[in-house]
Amino acid sequence: MESQVNSQLNFQSPDRGPLIHPLSIGECVIPGNIFLAPMAGFTDAAFRAICLKKGAFFTYTEMVSAEACMRKSEKTLKLLERAESEKILGMQVFGSQPKQIAAAVREIIKYGPALIDLNCGCSIPKILKTGSGAHLLKNPKLIGEIIRAMNQETDVPVTLKIRSGWDTNTINYSEIGLIAQEAGASLITLHPRTRSERFSGHSDWDHITQLKDLLSIPVIGSGDLFTPEDVCAMLTRTGCDGVMIARGAIGNPFIFSEVRNACAGEISRVTITPEERLLCALEHLKKFIALKGEAKACTEMRKHFCAYTKGLSNSSVLRRQCVHASTESDYEKIVDEFIGKKND
Ligand SMILES: Cc1cc2nc3c(=O)[nH]c(=O)nc-3n(C[C@H](O)[C@H](O)[C@H](O)COP(=O)(O)O)c2cc1C
Repeated sequence: MESQVNSQLNFQSPDRGPLIHPLSIGECVIPGNIFLAPMAGFTDAAFRAICLKKGAFFTYTEMVSAEACMRKSEKTLKLLERAESEKILGMQVFGSQPKQIAAAVREIIKYGPALIDLNCGCSIPKILKTGSGAHLLKNPKLIGEIIRAMNQETDVPVTLKIRSGWDTNTINYSEIGLIAQEAGASLITLHPRTRSERFSGHSDWDHITQLKDLLSIPVIGSGDLFTPEDVCAMLTRTGCDGVMIARGAIGNPFIFSEVRNACAGEISRVTITPEERLLCALEHLKKFIALKGEAKACTEMRKHFCAYTKGLSNSSVLRRQCVHASTESDYEKIVDEFIGKKND
C-alpha cells in the first residue's frame, strides 16, 4: 500500500514535545505511545513478544468473547496468558450486554491486565450478529452503560476501540467519545473508517484530529500505518496521544524500531536484510511452537511466514515451499536453502 506521506518531511514537533513519550492511563504508565494493535488470529503471545523485542511499547491480546469468559472457556482464557517479556498487557473483550461484560471483567482481571478494552469496531458478520463489535456503534448509550458496568467491577482502566460510525450516513465517533468519557473510559482508540467500509479506501485521519480536540482522555489513532513516515505523520498531523500499528506489523515487526528511529528524527532507513527477516520468522516460529505445540504452530505460521517473505526476491518460491512446512526443521531448511543460495 502506498505511504501517505513524503519521506522528506521533518517530523519534529517542538510545540508538542517529543513524538514518542510515555502515557499514563490511570495507575498504569505505558513507557511509550507506539502500540501493536489487537488483531484476532495474529496478536497471540508469540507475535506480541516479537513485536515487543523489536520496539513496540505496548500490546493487546486478541479480542476475547465476554460470553466465553463468563463460561470460563479454557480456550478463551488461554488467550489472556502473556509472554514472559510482557510486563504490561492490554486485554480486549467483545460482547453486547453490560451484565455479561461485567462478569467477563471479573474473569479477565485475574490475568492482571494493564487495561481492559471494549471492542466497538469489529466488522465480522459473525460478531455483528451478536450485537457486539461495531454493532455497538449503533447504540452509543449502550456503550456508556457497558463502560460503567465494567468500571464498577474493577479499578483497572477501562478503554474502548471504535470506528467512525456504522456507515457514512451515521458517523458518530464524537458522540460516542463524549459518552464513553463521561462513563469513565480512560482512553479511546479510533480507527477512522465506518463499519461498512471495513478496510477499503483510506482511513480519515481528520476524525482522529477532531476527536482529540474534543476529549480530555487520551486518543490513540489507528489506520493505514504501514511505514515509519505514516506513523510520524499521524502523530504530527492529528495531535493524537499515540498510535496502534496493525497490518503494517504483520511480517514486519521491524516497523517498531524503524518508527522509534524516524520519530527521533532519523529520516534515512536502515535496510532490513532478507536474512534478518527470515531469521526473525524462525524466532517467531520457535515462540509459536512453545505456545501452541509444533503441529499447530507450523500450520498457523504459514500466514506469518508468507508475510515475512513479502518483497524478497523470489519470494513466491518461499511461499510455495512453506505451504508444505509442517515441522520446525521444514522451515529451517527452507530458510537455510534461501540464505545459502543468496550467498552463493
Ligand atoms: C486480521 C485483523 C484482525 C483484527 N482484529 C481486531 C481485533 O481483534 N480487535 C480490534 O479492535 N481490532 C482488530 N483489527 C483492527 C486493527 O486493530 C486496526 O484498527 C485496523 O486494522 C486498522 O489499522 P491498520 O490500517 O494499521 O491495519 C483487526 C485487523 C486485522 C487486519
